[in-house]
Order: sequence, then C-alpha cells, then structure tokens
Amino acid sequence: MKISSDIHEAALWLSKNKVVAIPTETVYGLAASIYSEQAIQTIYKIKNRPSNNPLIVHIKSVEELPKYAVDIPDKALVLAKTFWPGPLTLVLKKSIQIPDYITSNKDTVGIRVPDHQTTLKLLDAIDFPIAAPSANPSNCVSATSATHVFNYFGNKLPFVLDGGFCNKGLESTIVGFENDVAVIYRMGALSVEQIENVVGKVYIKNFEAQNPIAPGMFSKHYAPKTPLYVVQNMNLFLSETPHQNIAYLGFSTKENHEKIKAHFDLSKKASFDEAAQNLYKTLIEIDSYNFDAIVTHFVPNIDLGNSINDRLKRAAFSIT
Ligand code: TXA
Ligand code: MG
Repeated sequence: MKISSDIHEAALWLSKNKVVAIPTETVYGLAASIYSEQAIQTIYKIKNRPSNNPLIVHIKSVEELPKYAVDIPDKALVLAKTFWPGPLTLVLKKSIQIPDYITSNKDTVGIRVPDHQTTLKLLDAIDFPIAAPSANPSNCVSATSATHVFNYFGNKLPFVLDGGFCNKGLESTIVGFENDVAVIYRMGALSVEQIENVVGKVYIKNFEAQNPIAPGMFSKHYAPKTPLYVVQNMNLFLSETPHQNIAYLGFSTKENHEKIKAHFDLSKKASFDEAAQNLYKTLIEIDSYNFDAIVTHFVPNIDLGNSINDRLKRAAFSIT
C-alpha cells in the first residue's frame, strides 16, 4: 500500500476501477467510482460488509445534487445549502444516475459533500461521484488517520490519499424525511441542535430496532477490542470489578485507584469538538496496549455530547 497526498494518482487509481482510501472531515472512507461495480464489490469484500448495507455517495457541490436525487424536499435543500460541504448525509429518492449496487437495491441514496480540501480537489479532478463507507473493517472503530487505514487494510488496498487527521472525528449525521419531517437515522458530527435550528423539530430513530431503514445502525458497532465499561458509579465499579489493569478514558476528569494504570483524556478543556476529534484515535491507541478493560463516563447529553454518547453506547461492552 502506498500512502501519499498525490491527488492525481488517487484519481488515476479510481478511474482504473480500483478502491482507494480518502480523507474526509469526519473519518477516512474506502472510495470507488459509483459506476464501477467491480470496485464497489471490492469495497464490500475487504470491509466484510453485509450486502444489505448501502453506501454513501460523495459529490463535489450542492449544485450537483439534482443530478443524483429527485423529489428533493425543501427542507433537504435548505439543510444541504446550509451545511455542505460538511458532515451531513441526506437520504433522498435516488435518480437513475445511481446504480442499484450502491444502494443495496433501495430507491433512496445517502449523499453528501465532504468538507476536506484534498477530497474536494479529487472530486474536481474526476468526472464521477465516489461511493465511500468508512475505512474500517465492519464492526471496528472508524479510521481517522492514514496510518489507521494502513493498519486495518495493509496491502489489500493499493493507495491511501493522505489528508492528515480528520478534523471532526465522528461520522456524518444522517438525515432522511418522513412525511416532510426530518428524521435523524444516525447521530454524528453535526448536532441535533444545529439541524433543528434550521428545520425545526426532528425525530430521532437511530437504533436498529426503531429503524430497519439504515441497516448500519446495529446497537453494537464501533467497538474497541478491549472491553469498554461506561460507568455511573465509578467507586462501586472499581471495588467490584475483577479487572486489575484498567485504562481510564476521561473528559477532563481523572480517577485515582490502584486498578487504574493509565489515564487518557479526550479533552483537557472539556470541549466536545476536541473529544469527538480524539474519540476513535484514543480507542485505537488504547487497543494497541494490553489493558484488560477501559472505563469511562457518559459526557453531558447536549450538542455533540449526544453524538459522543451514542458512540460510547455502541462501543460499550457494558453500561452500568
Ligand atoms: O462520515 C461519513 O458518513 C463517512 C465518510 C467516509 O463520508 N462514511 C460513513 O459510511 O460513515 P458508512 O458506510 O460507514 O456508514 C453509512 C451509513 C450506514 O449506516 C448506512 O446504512 C447508511 O449510512 N445509509 C447509506 N445509504 C442509506 C440509505 N439510502 N438509506 C438509509 N441509510 C443509508
Ligand atoms: Mg461505518
């Protein structure tokens, strides 16, 4: 695998029906031309992704949207104009431009304009949109650097377009429309409050039981290998747990106890933006050591704290 910031080389691989990893502001993606069925199949294979889980299409600007989506609700257009380029994926009725193998045969498409200069330049250099799921094997923590992608896929992938660390660090927020009401199918790097400021009250249906529409929303997802305990009563937990070699994941918080052997702080200044940026890379880092457990608390349930807590829930081995 080659790691490089050469946009033209990335464009060349893509036009030759190959899969390359690309940076976005949220997480890295495994990208292919939406018109290359062969490359799309490769994505599913190397990610070990179930075939009923559709891919997000990345386009270069909001002006391109009507080419790929039809019957676009007014609220969707307002959201796109407000937040693109940015971490918002809209689920819309697809046009005939979008092949069925992108959308797992659904008549809708998840679509967004990523906010990353390198990938926007790449989209400018090619004449097709790119489909890209997150660049991690299914059920693993998403990659927020080129090195993470390399460690996951090695030589299964010819090329990673290096765009540095992802600025947001959480996946895009996915929004669909049911009877003209905005519905959040996945919490993400754009907060519920930011969306409600533009379109008013939204519904949230981001667990699979409520929402067979976005099959990626399994309740267990994004999990590190080291069991993660999200704990309310830390003293009680630490006195009872058999684990002796624990990593503490804090949000400007600390906990002194003989069973806690190291502290990792998501944000020393208790900033949600910084904590979101650090969450996956910290979980991946902790996994590279030999702790037998990770303990943490939920963060306050407002703004991006909601999205961080959503990921902690999906990453958790146990919540007490
Ligand atoms: O931030 C992101 O969205 C990243 C970057 C690379 O853009 N991509 C990403 O893709 O997170 P992925 O494949 O890991 O997650 C896409 C989610 C899945 O849960 C999938 O089910 C949902 O989007 N999705 C895609 N198309 C959909 C559709 N037509 N209807 C409902 N859900 C859809
Ligand atoms: Mg993913």
